[in-house]
Amino acid sequence: MSHSADPRPMTARRAAPLSGEALVPGDKSISHRALILGAMAVGETRITGLLEGQDVLDTARAMQAFGAQVVQHGPGDWSVHGVGVGGFRSPEGVIDCGNSGTGVRLIMGAMATTPVTATFTGDASLSRRPMARVTDPLAQFGARITAREGGRLPITVQGATDPVPVTYHTPVASAQIKSAILLAGLNVPGDTVVIEPEPTRDHSERMLAGFGAQIRTETVPEGHKVTLTGRPELRPQPVAVPRDPSSAAFPVAAALIVPGSNIRVPGVSRNPTRDGLYVTLREMGADITYENPRDEGGEPVADLVVRHGPLTGVTVPAARAASMIDEFPILSVIAAFATGPTVMNGVAELRVKESDRIDAMAVGLRANGVRVEDTPDSMTVHGQAGVPGGGHAVTHLDHRIAMSFLILGLATERPVTIDDAGPITTSFPDFVPLMTRLGADVS
Ligand code: S3P
Repeated sequence: MSHSADPRPMTARRAAPLSGEALVPGDKSISHRALILGAMAVGETRITGLLEGQDVLDTARAMQAFGAQVVQHGPGDWSVHGVGVGGFRSPEGVIDCGNSGTGVRLIMGAMATTPVTATFTGDASLSRRPMARVTDPLAQFGARITAREGGRLPITVQGATDPVPVTYHTPVASAQIKSAILLAGLNVPGDTVVIEPEPTRDHSERMLAGFGAQIRTETVPEGHKVTLTGRPELRPQPVAVPRDPSSAAFPVAAALIVPGSNIRVPGVSRNPTRDGLYVTLREMGADITYENPRDEGGEPVADLVVRHGPLTGVTVPAARAASMIDEFPILSVIAAFATGPTVMNGVAELRVKESDRIDAMAVGLRANGVRVEDTPDSMTVHGQAGVPGGGHAVTHLDHRIAMSFLILGLATERPVTIDDAGPITTSFPDFVPLMTRLGADVS
């Protein structure tokens, strides 16, 4: 649903050492995919640990509108009765995907090769984001697409009646593009192929294989190639959603920058395609250890133990960007407390997220006394011994910008305010109480 409530300003103040256990919510990417694949399987898919953030709830409602039965049994415990590949019906109303790029792009893919018609909308942030990156390949399958100028929402997709398989080279490394194409490929006879320039998060591939689809991945000279054989009968699977490493990044960052902190973050996904922030933090000298490594629901997970300590700035290579694409805002906060500059390369995609994240972070960090340089596809943050704070940050309907500046304020000399904490509910509804339990002063 579009975020329409009044803005909720919030202030974070310098904290005493943080301690305790941070039970962060279920992974957002996996939660969307579990609902969508559950809706495309025949029979009941039981999901535990589902993220009940607004983005995912919007996807659940959309799957119902396409004909699946989606039921909540308890906190995080959901079931989906799917209609099978090709079984969607045309929704009666408009599909409002709220703030969620993943939701709208994956659902457009999932329905684009079934002869149904749907109109998609979203909030002001989502309506500014580029959609042609997904609608162009979907049109190659035979879907007919009408978009607002610039390829923006609202968009109407008329699914193909006789879809044809597609081989698509994605111009940017994006799991949303890859996943939209693979979901479209499910209802197409023959092989659908996506070649991406760098490997991106592979939750769709893992879950498709788990549901019984034939899917193969290989490294080729142009990059990373995924081949899906169409028209499988998807078998419902129990999905245990691991905790989200992108959400874990916020309490982890807080523990790294608030002196004396020592926290534990259990059950976090350690999928290598999502691990870039943690690789970078270890290079910076962060004290992070992994306990009880195990496999849950086809994803590697571990318990993170994080202690405050000195950090050193590093250069993050462009090739790592895809594996930490949502973590650059919070890395730029951590970098403000490191010794020396941290250089983030190859991050142009940040400019088309829920906000222009390079600009939002650069402007907000400067307002809090941090030296930042940015170019179209890079950002450099100069760390310093004491970060003044005392500034106001504009969050542009972007949950990760809101949470990043609240974490900043836990370690600055003066409080940091943000204009609106409302969007945090899209991915981390429990953020403020969870941080408060660790000892943070956020109100
Ligand atoms: C996501 C992929 C990423 C990421 C987003 C979730 C996904 O977007 O930023 O939060 O679940 O596939 P891109 O694939 O566009 O980089």
